[in-house]
Amino acid sequence: MNRMILNKIFIFMVVSVVLLSGFLMTASAMTDHFNDAAGTAGDNTWKDWKTSWDGIKPNLEQISLTPGANQTQLNFGWYSHTAASKPSVKFATKANMSDAKIFSGKQTAHRIIDGIQYYSSKVTVTGLAENTTYYYQYENDGIWSTPVSYRTKNFTSFKLIFVGDPQIGASVGRIPSDGKDPQTAEIAARNDAYNWNATLHTALNAHHDISFILSAGDQINYSNNDATPQQEIEYSGFLSPGVLKSMPIATVIGNHDSLTTNYQNHFNNPNPFTEETSPTAAGNGYYYSYGSALFIFINTNNYNCADHEVLIKKAIAANPNAKWRILAFHQDIYGSGKDHSDSDGIALRTQLTPIIDKYHIDVVLQGHDHSYARTYQLSGDSKPHTLYSGNAANGVVKWSDEKNSAYQQQNECYTVQRDNANKVINPKGTLYITANSATGSKYYELINRMQDYIAARWQEWKPTYSVIEISDTSLTINTFETETGRQIDSAYTIVKSKTKQ
Ligand SMILES: [Fe+2]
Repeated sequence: MNRMILNKIFIFMVVSVVLLSGFLMTASAMTDHFNDAAGTAGDNTWKDWKTSWDGIKPNLEQISLTPGANQTQLNFGWYSHTAASKPSVKFATKANMSDAKIFSGKQTAHRIIDGIQYYSSKVTVTGLAENTTYYYQYENDGIWSTPVSYRTKNFTSFKLIFVGDPQIGASVGRIPSDGKDPQTAEIAARNDAYNWNATLHTALNAHHDISFILSAGDQINYSNNDATPQQEIEYSGFLSPGVLKSMPIATVIGNHDSLTTNYQNHFNNPNPFTEETSPTAAGNGYYYSYGSALFIFINTNNYNCADHEVLIKKAIAANPNAKWRILAFHQDIYGSGKDHSDSDGIALRTQLTPIIDKYHIDVVLQGHDHSYARTYQLSGDSKPHTLYSGNAANGVVKWSDEKNSAYQQQNECYTVQRDNANKVINPKGTLYITANSATGSKYYELINRMQDYIAARWQEWKPTYSVIEISDTSLTINTFETETGRQIDSAYTIVKSKTKQ
């Protein structure tokens, strides 16, 4: 066997062990709390949703909008059950589409679901101007959709909404307040999708001029790699919010997304990193620029971080003047959740911290721990650290054994810039934010021993979202509880007068 194959086998073993441990821990330490759609709903909204679900559930062909390679582009992705040699989107500035331009893309065969062959269509629209209203139609199964409006925002100073783990379907087995039986997977998808709609609707009503949404992974819950339609029902729920027809969403590949090709066929991510040597079935990392910021999404279900370094390097080389470098991935390496922050994150922590330092990443956006956490500015400790996942793969170290010296030595691979100010100017190091669940389909407790790198954390069993505002000179993050709009952490601002070198 050559070295490459051995490497691949090793990485596969590591990924399998880590994914398995993640699922087992998820099962054992998940809290009793969840956001009961039936309990929080206004009567008519809830009744209407249950009725409309019958149409949403089987509709695998919903459109997804994704940021393009830069702010002047917009990406579209959708499933069809009819082959088309040239999938197309019409884009216009007039509602009657009289000045429409047609953009064509590529279609690939996806797979057979419930006896129907599905295809994945992807089209990129270019030449967008800021603060402009457009209208689009896409051709699906030979029919042009009804025109939908889409408005670009300011390209220089902009806002995005950051959410974590919508994980549509994760409330499976819970007993809702309007029923006696545990929720089936399908009912869980329906109820979690209701909460997903509510969060996005509330967030976008409360905060205007949002350019895009960023979801830090686990869009859905069903995670086996078989061909069951359940995962597609969950993606139907994820794509169902009406606001997503006019708002791009950039997603990270979560562990629950990672095992099937559904993710990569729903989302038309820009600049996909197809050179990744150990990709998951869901596909690859990617990047795009928006205003003065560069967003890099790495697929940390692939624990081979040499891959991620190549992507980060490539993204920066393509955007050398980006003032802000923002990295997003699923498995939090500096979070505070009981389930993952001191366990499977560590396999990545020792590998990623020096890379994040080396490429001067300003902010890291994470998920996976279903609880909110904000760190101090963190840097590496410049010491060599063993690849911790090797120990885990050999079963030498128990994830939960905090007294284990190897665990401690490898885990403490960072230095904390302990500064209690909520506004920092040209700071050293990197800010890490972990999002709570945006739907409340599942929550985790905070870890008992709060880590020394944590500046603020929160878990009150309510869905949350953050608003990140970025200009050429500052980046501010505010986080809100969805139901009341209450701010759950002080605003945190990074002021930057120069690009880090
Ligand atoms: Fe999750």
